[in-house]
Amino acid sequence: MSILEVKNLEKSFDKLQVLKDISLSADNGEIISIIGSSGSGKSTLLRCLNRLETVDSGEIIVDGDTMVSTVNGKSIYAGEDILKKIRMKTGLVFQNFNLFPHYDVLRNITEAPVFAAGIPKDEAEKTAYGLLEQLGLKDKAKAYPYQLSGGQSQRVSIARALALKPKILFFDEPTSALDPELTGEVLKVIRSLTSLNMTMIIVTHEMDFAREISDRMIFMDQGVIVEDTTPADLFNSDNERTKAFLGKFHES
Ligand SMILES: Nc1ncnc2c1ncn2[C@@H]1O[C@H](COP(=O)(O)OP(=O)(O)OP(=O)(O)O)[C@@H](O)[C@H]1O
Ligand SMILES: [Mg+2]
Repeated sequence: MSILEVKNLEKSFDKLQVLKDISLSADNGEIISIIGSSGSGKSTLLRCLNRLETVDSGEIIVDGDTMVSTVNGKSIYAGEDILKKIRMKTGLVFQNFNLFPHYDVLRNITEAPVFAAGIPKDEAEKTAYGLLEQLGLKDKAKAYPYQLSGGQSQRVSIARALALKPKILFFDEPTSALDPELTGEVLKVIRSLTSLNMTMIIVTHEMDFAREISDRMIFMDQGVIVEDTTPADLFNSDNERTKAFLGKFHES
């Protein structure tokens, strides 16, 4: 069953059309990587799917609930109750962590469960300690973000996203701010999550990693989905744009 359905999304910033007729779907537990050049619209797509941006038109359905649909060319968003229900089912991990600098690690992880989901504080903390243990951060619960390495910060932001037990976890270039050693550390954590049967949609430039963990890979170029296929087919593609992108990648 599809946990995410996206149909004909369009998004422009002023005169610049950033997303052009984007359609995709994700099954429960599926792992999908999105690759593409800088400026191709990958972050904008994830931001639209997480309602950090509004779409101009199209449809987004999360776990059977319609976030936005389009009537007569005009997008119509669901009411706050449905949007909140959807928000509780999704998590987003950013490139630059986006931790709350004035809260310690524990509070960063428990903030949304306690204040947005209404989970009792002691229960939220118990979950948080479990996640910290699982992600190798047991001794960092009382540390502040400025006291963490990049890799640790990113693992905290993954713990924070997991704290709401999302059905879909989105990652926007989770390792691109990290050096190679810390990248390995974070990729290992993401790899370990693949056994949880959670749907994961990962924007990444880590081609070997994407190829290894993905059920499907989506290649975006200039606001369109050029390919949506298995990793094996993507890397053997005859499409000129795909070949040019992957070729550039190998040279750099
Ligand atoms: N808030 C905004 N206002 C105006 N233009 C924007 C805004 N956000 C993104 N854009 C433009 O939309 C296009 C797509 O940007 P986006 O961030 O989605 O690309 P990306 O594929 O994530 O690139 P990268 O790999 O560099 O992260 C770019 O041309 C960008 O300048
Ligand atoms: Mg981006």
